[in-house]
Amino acid sequence: MKTENLKHDSAIKHVTGQSVYVNDLAFSGQLVGRVVYSKVASARIKSIDCAKALLVDGVSSILTYKDIPGKNQLGPVIHDEPCLAQDEVTFIGQAIVLIAAENLEAAFKAEKLIQIEFEELESILTLQDAIAKNNLLAPPRCIECGNVEEALQSAPHCISGELETGAQEHWYLETQSALAVPCEGKEMLVHASSQNPAETQAIVAEVLGVSKNEIEVEVRRMGGGFGGKETQGNHVAAWAALLANATRRPVGIQLFRDDDQIITGKRHRFLSKYSIGFDHSGKILAYSVELNSDAGAATDLSRAILERAMLHAENSYFIPNVKIVGKAYKTNLPSNTAFRGFGGPQGMAVIETAIDRIARFLKKDAAEIRKLNFYGTKTRNITPYGETVRNSRLDVMYEKLLVSANYVQRINAVAEFNKQNEFAKRGIALTPIKFGISFTTAFLNQAGALVHIYNDGTVAVNHGGTEMGQGLNTKIHGIASSEFGISPEFIKISSTNTSKVPNSSATAASSGSDLNGMAVKNAIDKLKSRLAEVAANELNVKLAVNSIQSNQIVFVGNEVLSTLFPNIKIAFAELVKLAYLKQVSLSATGFYKTPGIFFDRETGKGNPFLYYAYGMAVSEVQIDTLTGETKLLRTDILHDVGDSLNEEIDIGQIEGGFIQGVGWVTTEEIKWDKSGNQLTHSPDTYKIPTVNDIPAVFNVELLKGYPNEGTIRKSKAVGEPPLMLAFSVWLAIKDAVSAVGNHEFEPQFSLPATAEVVLLSIEEIRKKVLGVGG
Ligand code: MTE
Ligand code: HPA
Ligand code: MOS
Repeated sequence: MKTENLKHDSAIKHVTGQSVYVNDLAFSGQLVGRVVYSKVASARIKSIDCAKALLVDGVSSILTYKDIPGKNQLGPVIHDEPCLAQDEVTFIGQAIVLIAAENLEAAFKAEKLIQIEFEELESILTLQDAIAKNNLLAPPRCIECGNVEEALQSAPHCISGELETGAQEHWYLETQSALAVPCEGKEMLVHASSQNPAETQAIVAEVLGVSKNEIEVEVRRMGGGFGGKETQGNHVAAWAALLANATRRPVGIQLFRDDDQIITGKRHRFLSKYSIGFDHSGKILAYSVELNSDAGAATDLSRAILERAMLHAENSYFIPNVKIVGKAYKTNLPSNTAFRGFGGPQGMAVIETAIDRIARFLKKDAAEIRKLNFYGTKTRNITPYGETVRNSRLDVMYEKLLVSANYVQRINAVAEFNKQNEFAKRGIALTPIKFGISFTTAFLNQAGALVHIYNDGTVAVNHGGTEMGQGLNTKIHGIASSEFGISPEFIKISSTNTSKVPNSSATAASSGSDLNGMAVKNAIDKLKSRLAEVAANELNVKLAVNSIQSNQIVFVGNEVLSTLFPNIKIAFAELVKLAYLKQVSLSATGFYKTPGIFFDRETGKGNPFLYYAYGMAVSEVQIDTLTGETKLLRTDILHDVGDSLNEEIDIGQIEGGFIQGVGWVTTEEIKWDKSGNQLTHSPDTYKIPTVNDIPAVFNVELLKGYPNEGTIRKSKAVGEPPLMLAFSVWLAIKDAVSAVGNHEFEPQFSLPATAEVVLLSIEEIRKKVLGVGG
């Protein structure tokens, strides 16, 4: 059954408004929940007075930490994150009090009457300050190979520098939301917008002080997660559950956009320091990098994110001598969290800037330097952490993209344009990515499924993954259809629910379809082998033979047949009915764990990834040197998804991921004032990409003819990697700025390259040009 072209299962529902989100659900007697949060970054709480607020008409319940029946904890890995502040607050946005009311007006009124007395303490609000005070979150980590110090010393050239990469707000269209419904006894049903229903269940159980089997978490879909709901979707679920438990009524919370941006964590900003040694040809001999991340006020996933940053520090390049040091620091800001790429982008940005600088130093084309340093296929293929890069697609993709993007001619055209134009300058850049697929926390690489065949021949598929717009359910739909050999209309993918598939990992690390697809296949294989036995018997009877074995039975085109006698078939639905009458079980669980992966955090060595996904992009920009405005003229992307599970969805993921990356490297900038208040907590000041930011010419192609052996239908994961293709835009902007000084002076550049950064960088170059000119 050809299912690579299935339309996104929610496409029509989304555009007609039929898709159901948490906030669309309504239960009788439902209350609205409101979170009262800290307005100061660091303080001792002297007192909380809710007496007046409790008298407001329509207020049902007001809770502080004292009212939590279970543990006052939200920390997913390390328990360092109170559910409601107790004696102190450590960031602006930290939840202190919860209100349940009949309506929002009453909740607002009550909120105004709550009096919290603080004794303000000193706070740490910048990474620089945290580094100066050595306010480490955890002991530093190191990954090392060869001898970096020696190799840097003996290298013909060495460049050193610092790079700041900015935070990023997830800007999912559906803000954090949850609806908790108290049921019989201790039971609670939670409709959550969570990438991690099993963890939401665990945290809700923990704050309520009940066991997990009392809590059922259901996730129909999210209106985007992007990593922001890998752990922090749990918070709002826990708050709603506490209020529902206290009032014994359903309570829904959906954060307002501004509150969401103030309360929740973001992509970690990094301040990185590096030295890179290379020879006259541009071959890299040694790379030393220190990655410093801003974890915010609590651990959340910061350790794993730093680890992934370290595991991507060398991106697509073989470097014989490497030292990667990783340090996460605590600050008085919301705890930063997973965001598409999970540290990978922050790690890669440094090597990409370093290579760009090598090219400018040697006055060579940066793409050539990149190509020179790509991982090899037979030699030069061991990563700093000891995993062998098998099946590198870098060389083949480079050759193809150079041609399809017409790279060489366009470099000349850009130079020509820059000669002709004084105030508009163009730049072009090619950047590759190699992204490791698997959770770096090895045990998380497991998934479960539950597949039912009803006796009318229709199928219901459940799996532990969640749908956040990425098309996971559509891919699973295609997999189930292909594996059963029946049309997609006979199959339904149901909501994710902890009572159907337990102990699932977060849908994250781009591995949703890899893991859950395999688990679903495993369940289907079990059912098919039971059905095949029934079919073999039935066909033997029909044909009056005794020769058909169940392993000769195939499922294809809604029918079941033996390869020996292909003309005699049983309809799938008919076989199902027969199996039911013969008392054969038509329900099966499936399970999958990724084989052969491990990583030793102490030694920094192992095989953390099952495989790598590759991508490459060429982008061309034009800047207005008077305003700093950037226009993205053209982007060509070639991306490797193995054999695509669904081409349109994969291309959509590549386009979406790339544009989200373009936002991170250009316009999305989070700023705080001196007290730690975010100045950019709404769309008027926080600029995500709009239709105008999509490149005027946008060519996205999948690498064809390179199946990935050992994964579901030979596919590769696609969710996160394309985000990092946006480095091509960032470095094209740098190239355009560099053209202002005829490439004689290197622009100083950080990430994002906002209009302001571009303009200041141009001014620096103009000063240097004037200085040289007399
Ligand atoms: N695409 C959409 N439309 N919405 C999202 O929230 N999240 C991204 C990516 N693509 C996201 C998305 C992130 S961070 C991850 S890890 C993957 O999807 C998760 O889904 P997958 O593992 O099924 O690819
Ligand atoms: N990606 C996303 N989430 C994770 C990972 C990862 O590599 N490791 C642990 N949680
Ligand atoms: Mo994605 S950052 O792994 O949720």
